[in-house]
Amino acid sequence: QNAVKRDYDYLFKLVLVGDSGVGKTCLLSQYRRGEFNYDTKHTIGVEFATKELQVQDKTIKCQIWDTAGQERYRAITKAYYRGAVAALLVYDITDRETFTNLKRWLSEVQSHADRDIKLMVVGNKSDMEDSRAVSPDEGRAFAEQHNLYFVEASALKGDAVSFAFESLVEKVF
Ligand code: GTP
Repeated sequence: QNAVKRDYDYLFKLVLVGDSGVGKTCLLSQYRRGEFNYDTKHTIGVEFATKELQVQDKTIKCQIWDTAGQERYRAITKAYYRGAVAALLVYDITDRETFTNLKRWLSEVQSHADRDIKLMVVGNKSDMEDSRAVSPDEGRAFAEQHNLYFVEASALKGDAVSFAFESLVEKVF
């Protein structure tokens, strides 16, 4: 009787991971508000934001967690991954080291998250073709090798940003 009517059918927790500076915070704000902020600060600890979307005739409320890629904030990991149904593993296509480090991010996710978590590799900053350091084929090969989904996106232009989040949510659903 006292039940509060929820305005959604499912609540999904998604997490963003990847090195500092790859654009996690920018992807989130582009997805939520269609905005790009040039002057994002390093994320400190954890922030989260929600966004609702429709899949089939259901309303899914996504709680999207964004954490600092900087090493000194990595103590929080266990709680960060708890209950997450999907994760975006983000690298910067202009910075090879961020791509190399995906292996570490993947093993962190695999050791802390649920076994059936859905994972998408996101090569961000696809607008910076002139500075590209990782080819789409390499990104795709890494993803295929580990059985992950893959997309290149641009938080700046908005290219493939909704796709990255929403196609992943559809896999969960
Ligand atoms: P931490 O919070 O330190 O983990 O970093 P982050 O991964 O959240 O990176 P953030 O979103 O703060 O972006 C880092 C820098 O990359 C900023 O200067 C952004 O303006 C820039 N940036 C992010 N996404 C893009 C993109 O798609 N294209 C271009 N050209 N620049 C981007």
